[in-house]
Amino acid sequence: MKSEILSMLRAADGYLSGQQLCDKMGVSRTAVWKAMNELKEEGYKIEAVRNRGYHLVENADVITQAELQSMLHSKWIGGRLEYFDETDSTNTRARKLAEEGAIHGTLVVADSQWAGKGRRGRLWTSPKGVGIWMSVVLRPAISPLHASMLTLIAGMAVVKGVRSSTGLNAMIKWPNDAVLEGKKICGILTEMSTEDECIRYVITGIGINVNVDEFPGELAETATSLKLEKGENIRRSPVISAVAEAFEEYYDIFLETCDMSILKEEYNRELANTNREVMVLDPKGQYEGTALGIDNEGSLLVKKKDGTVASVISGEVSVRGIYGYV
Ligand code: BTN
Repeated sequence: MKSEILSMLRAADGYLSGQQLCDKMGVSRTAVWKAMNELKEEGYKIEAVRNRGYHLVENADVITQAELQSMLHSKWIGGRLEYFDETDSTNTRARKLAEEGAIHGTLVVADSQWAGKGRRGRLWTSPKGVGIWMSVVLRPAISPLHASMLTLIAGMAVVKGVRSSTGLNAMIKWPNDAVLEGKKICGILTEMSTEDECIRYVITGIGINVNVDEFPGELAETATSLKLEKGENIRRSPVISAVAEAFEEYYDIFLETCDMSILKEEYNRELANTNREVMVLDPKGQYEGTALGIDNEGSLLVKKKDGTVASVISGEVSVRGIYGYV
């Protein structure tokens, strides 16, 4: 009911009377009044004017179940939505749900995580109220060999979603990050469960620093937030909605070929690494080169000093900028 009220308030031109709300939803005035109070408690600024009705002053940064339901316009992401004020990790939650049979597109969002997972077993700091901590359950009928490209799809979705919802010119840092002005704003963690060389499910976890005000110690050199770059608070739900929509768009295109052939050109345009000097941290030996862009398989092409071009496969090696984070 609260998500319906939010949608109606947003769609209304001016004020919406209590009676209109009751009629539309088939509930009592008391029920509407109660829901309004709950929404106010959650942080919405709702003006109630006698003889005119209710009006939503759109400035609250709330990401509750009702808020997200009223904001999501995606086709299948969020078909099932699980919101938590706090949880261990949305990836862990999504995994559990997937094990219990959760449908493709199930979206898990938390306002804070106390055991957020980063790559390589690292902890992902996920403070309350200032970030987007979300995971999507995917059940693609593709080979596990192609699953790492879903991380690239998520990166494209973050960049497009952040741009369209905030105007900030985010770029991709291959393969798992999104950056603004050369600093990390987003990390992506893709996990997979397979059986008999088939994918049971993939969990794509996305963490975006939205209204984080400061980063401790060395992190300040390499990480930033949307707020720090924009100079103002950012509402998270429009960003979540825009990222989900962009993800669906790219996912459908990806499935046409199960590789990056159609998306490669756009990906490379959004890639912060292009033409930059990078250090490839290959367990077999590290080397320097110039990043050229990705190939159809999503590997990063790096031109070595001797002129040969190496194809760097994500997951096996990582890439560091030589003159900064990118
Ligand atoms: C990285 O850059 O190391 C990846 C970080 C991924 C963080 C996100 S936050 C939402 C989801 N849940 C997690 O526990 N991790 C991912």
